[in-house]
Amino acid sequence: MPIIAPSMLSADFLKLGAEIEMINNSAADWFHLDVMDGRFVPNISYGMPIIAQMRKASTKTFDVHLMVEEPERYLADFKKAGADYLTVHYETGYHLHRTLTSIRALGMKAGLAINPHTPVDAVADLLQDIDLLLVMSINPGFGGQQFLPLTYGKIRRAKELITLAGTNTLIEIDGGVTLDNAAEIIAAGADVLVAGNTVFSAADPTDAIKRLKQTGK
Ligand code: DX5
Ligand code: ZN
Repeated sequence: MPIIAPSMLSADFLKLGAEIEMINNSAADWFHLDVMDGRFVPNISYGMPIIAQMRKASTKTFDVHLMVEEPERYLADFKKAGADYLTVHYETGYHLHRTLTSIRALGMKAGLAINPHTPVDAVADLLQDIDLLLVMSINPGFGGQQFLPLTYGKIRRAKELITLAGTNTLIEIDGGVTLDNAAEIIAAGADVLVAGNTVFSAADPTDAIKRLKQTGK
């Protein structure tokens, strides 16, 4: 069964406590937390203080997705805020090997994200240094966008490279995941599904999470 990571970007922030409680009591495995700086992506979301507050309300895994320039400046801050997985973008780094090594040295799992234009093969030499490969299935910045079909081939290629490297790297898919395409995404080789709109716009979010979790079973 896939790991399900609801994206809190689509949550109702006026009732954040109740939204967290809903996830706590659901089949979801992780919280996916999107940090945006208005530079790397054309949107600004939230940062460490909000994540630190949320951390107090849940014991589930915190999967923090940094869509910020110079992410290496903030690694210790996100550890302090409660990140379990910390993911930086391939496109932001001159010294990714150093950044990923630092994330692990701080006691977090290291994630590397690639935008739709970045070929999966670009990360081949870093697979030993990451726990998670996040394949963006939309152009990052906003929730509620359409899944890009080119992602299927990228998932299959990622799976091949990970098998060749012999690592336990998880493949995470982020953007446009729905109850309709989840099975095909899992069949291609994905391990983790992020879902914002599909969860929080559902009439019954708990049920949407359960149905995503049962995908491919
Ligand atoms: C977008 C974020 C996603 C977003 C996904 O840049 O990385 O995590 O919240 O939202 P949906 O599932 O609605 O496409
Ligand atoms: Zn994300």
